[in-house]
Order: sequence, then structure tokens, then C-alpha cells
Amino acid sequence: MSMDEKLKRLEELKRKTELGGGEKRLAAQHAKGKLSARERLDLLLDEGSFVELDRFVTHRSTEFGLEENKILGDGVVTGYGAIHGRLVYVFSQDFTVFGGSLSEAHAEKIVKLQEMALKNGAPLIGLNDSGGARIQEGVVSLGGYADIFLRNTLASGVIPQISVVLGPCAGGAVYSPAITDFIFMVRGTSYMFVTGPDVVKTVTHEDVDMESLGGADIHASKSGVAHFAHDSEPETLAAVRELMRFLPQNNQEPPPAVEATDSPDRRDEKLLEIVPDNPNHPYDMHAVIECVVDDGFFLEVHAGFAGNIITGFARLGGAPVGIIANQPAMLAGVLDIDSSDKGARFIRFCDAFNVPLLILEDVPGFLPGVGQEHGGIIRHGAKLLYAFSEATVPKVTVITRKAYGGAYDVMNSKHIRGDINLGWPTAEIAVMGPKGAVEILFRREIAEADDPEAATEERMAEYREKFAHPYIAASRGYLDDVIDPRDTRPRVISALQMLRSKRDENPLKKHGNIPL
Ligand code: HXC
Repeated sequence: MSMDEKLKRLEELKRKTELGGGEKRLAAQHAKGKLSARERLDLLLDEGSFVELDRFVTHRSTEFGLEENKILGDGVVTGYGAIHGRLVYVFSQDFTVFGGSLSEAHAEKIVKLQEMALKNGAPLIGLNDSGGARIQEGVVSLGGYADIFLRNTLASGVIPQISVVLGPCAGGAVYSPAITDFIFMVRGTSYMFVTGPDVVKTVTHEDVDMESLGGADIHASKSGVAHFAHDSEPETLAAVRELMRFLPQNNQEPPPAVEATDSPDRRDEKLLEIVPDNPNHPYDMHAVIECVVDDGFFLEVHAGFAGNIITGFARLGGAPVGIIANQPAMLAGVLDIDSSDKGARFIRFCDAFNVPLLILEDVPGFLPGVGQEHGGIIRHGAKLLYAFSEATVPKVTVITRKAYGGAYDVMNSKHIRGDINLGWPTAEIAVMGPKGAVEILFRREIAEADDPEAATEERMAEYREKFAHPYIAASRGYLDDVIDPRDTRPRVISALQMLRSKRDENPLKKHGNIPL
């Protein structure tokens, strides 16, 4: 065979690898409102940057007619490319090939990529669209999943791992995305569940459809499994690109800074008007975030889940920062089970990947209730405390209003290694709010008073005067300064710049035992 003929054969084979399961199945995929594995890669990666690996791999199974039905690539497109010019590894499952199901060879392709990503220190993004374990391959396929789970675990905290669920992801297969750092889902076409509607019906007699059991909105709002839910695949893949702007390549690198387009000295008059005069009135902490961060741009993570705490990425002076903020507009900003889990996981991501933390605090305490106590608020709240305590990245706190009780300690107080802790003049740092305190301290006096309401009011005014301000904490050095709210941005940027060379370590250990 001449060189020309050999090249022609190579081209033919390459073209074949791009067909996947064939025209008919591709049309069925499109009819469901889903893109093909390769169309998705085109949207995710910088144009022309994708380099495919292992396109000639085929399955080894000989069962149920698979011997004569080998498809090049075996249902997953793998390789590397760039997002905003930076290297990423990607796999994209092809539902047109045996439903994207995972064979031994399919798993080996993913494992190879995981190992390359880990060795070369670059993020791994998985586009999941699969009917799960390749039924014909039995336990070999289950072994393939376990090989992937192990590598997901070993790579955790070393390289960012992102899962984009764009079709079915069921059974044990959910545990690969579950171990990764961020999960994206698409409304109407992606599902995650350990057991599907039919099994649920048989076992618990509950009638539920796929979307209500494990669709994007359920996971992004109720279970907290997904961090992002979008309406379409193009929107989802654009959102992954946006998130990547904030992530470093690996745990040895800082997150990507840009030339700041917003002055670090910018004061903001609006910050004087956000906190209401009445301490019991709500306000939206997003308004504070928008005034403080570069160009008001905030990429919220887990926006639909546990809204009483806000988590997400922004820039300050061009450098990425992770924000954890109480949200007085929801449940008065109390900490509960879900918000503790949400906050703790985000903090640990930022700490693992060198993203400094900004904490905006207005917290009246932990949510009371039998449901919370029996659900383990002690165990879950401890995660948030543990995550803040353990984190060694620069940590800056701004108390805008309430910092009551145990929640004061938890929300990155000075005592758990907050680096710079600032209070607005509206900050109230106390064991509890005025009403609760007065009712405990002066119960008998109030009960015996001619006018109990007036007596309560009088004692509350006294309590406010004594405790509901930031100056006792500041006199102890628990606050480094009390600042004019308008100066928040310049003061936080100055603190983060001062902390750039921060070095801090935890005692040598195999790993801690975070209360899971
Ligand atoms: C082999 C599979 C397959 C599988 C689908 N196909 N799932 N082939 N192994 N697991 C094939 C179908 O035979 C079909 O082939 C093609 O993929 C498309 O499937 P359809 O059923 O026609 O598509 P759709 O109607 O969209 O339904 C998708 C589906 C359904 C909901 C995913 O296919 C399904 O229920 N599949 C089985 C899911 C499952 O039980 N997997 C094992 C879970 S346990 P043709 O040739 O007709 O195009 C598991 C354990 C993980 O995954 C282990 C971790 C510990």
C-alpha cells in the first residue's frame, strides 16, 4: 500500500470515528433536544483546540451480538483542549453508541484521561450522557466505574473536577459526578438518581416522574446535588466556561487574576442605605456583594439551594475571591443544616485551590426546631465551623449587622484564624439579640412590672446600648477595625493584598475527621 493509500485509509477511519452510533440515532438524540457528544465539545472548548485521544478504541465484549458490532471510540470521546486559552481534559459520552453505556474499554479511556489530568495538573470536565453500566459486560463494567470513582477521589483537591450531566446518569454511576467539585444539569433532559421511578414505585409505592425525582431543578434546589441548573445545553456549556475563569489549573497554582477594570479605591455611597434602621428588617446581601466586588460581577454557586447562605466567586482588584455571605432576606440569614453543608463544601473547595475567602456576616444564630435538631444540625453546623477553622487561605470577614451566639464564632471569627475582621458601625456582636437576652436576664422583673411591655422595652434599650454595637469586640481586638461601610471595597482589597504572602499550616496529619 502506498503512502497515499495509507493516508486515505486513515482519513476514512477517522471519519468513521466521528459517526458514533449512526445518523438515525443522532437524529433521535437531536429530537430529544440534545446535542451530540462532539457538538457539545465544540461549544465547551476554544474553537479548534480539541485534540482527540483513543479514537480507535473498541469494546472487547462478545456477548449478545456485540462481537460484530464494534464502534470506534466505544461511546465516549476523550481528549484535551483549551478554555480561555488554558488546558483542560474532557470526556464526552456518546449516547448514540449503546446508550453511552460504560464498557471496560470506555472506562479505560476515562481513566487514562483522569491520570493525565492529575499528572499534568489541569482540570477535568466530564460530559455525562449514559445509560450506565454496559449490561452485556456485567461486573467488568462495574469494575470500570470503581476505577473511575477511585481516581475522582484521588484527584479531589488536586485538580478541579467538573461534571456536566446532559442526559441520564443513574444507579451507581451518579457517584462519579457526586465526588467532583461542581455539577451542572439541564432542565428537562438530564436526570440523576440512584434508583429510578419504576423501582421507587415498587419499593415505596410513590408515584414520581423522572424530572420530579432527579431533574435539574430538584437537585439544584432541594437535594443540593447540583450546583447549577440551566434551560439548554448551549447555556450550560457557556456557564461551565464562565466558571472556569475563576478556577486555577491545580492546587499548586493561584486562581487566574486579570487586569482590574474597576478601581480598587472605589467607595460606594449605596452601602450606607442597604442595612435598614430596624435591626429586624431584612435586606438582600446580594446588594452588598454587588457594591463591593469588581464591576458588580458575582458568579453565584448553588444559587437555588439553601438561600439563607450565599456562596460564589467574584473578583477584587482583578483577583478571584470566594464569597460566603449570610442572607438576611431568607430565614433572616440563620444557619441551618443545608446552609451549613453548602457553606462548608464551598469553603473547602476554595481552601484546596488557593482562592481567598471574603465573609459577609449578618447572622442571628442557628435555626431552632425539632426538625433541625433531629436532622443533626449539631453535626452539620460543625462542618461549617470545621471548614472555616481548617482553611489556611486568606480569610477576611466583614460584619454588616448581627453576629450572635455560636454563629459569631462559626462565621470566620478572629478566634478561628480570621485574618482581617472588620465591622460596620451597624454591627451587633452579642450572645443573643436584645429581646431574648432581656427575657432571660429580667424575667422576674418584667413579670412583676405594672407594664411588662414598657419594662421589656426599657431593658432592651439598655441592652442595645451596652452590647448591640461593634466596640466591645473591637476593644478586645476581635475586630481589627470598625469601618465606614462606603470604604468596604478599598479596605477588603487592601487586606487581601496584604495577605497575598500569607503562610499558614495545619498540624501534620493524614487527614482530619470532619464531622460528615
Ligand atoms: C447497554 C444500553 C444500556 C446499557 C441503553 N442501552 N442502556 N446498552 N447497556 N446500560 C442501549 C439500548 O439498548 C439502545 O440501543 C440504546 O442504548 C438507547 O437506549 P433506549 O432505551 O432506546 O433510549 P431511551 O429510551 O432514551 O432510554 C434511555 C435509558 C434506558 C433510560 C437510559 O436505555 C435505560 O433504562 N437503560 C438501562 C439503564 C440501566 O439500568 N443501566 C444499568 C444501571 S446500573 P439501540 O441499539 O436500540 O439503539 C449501573 C451501575 C453503575 O449503571 C455501577 C456503579 C457502581
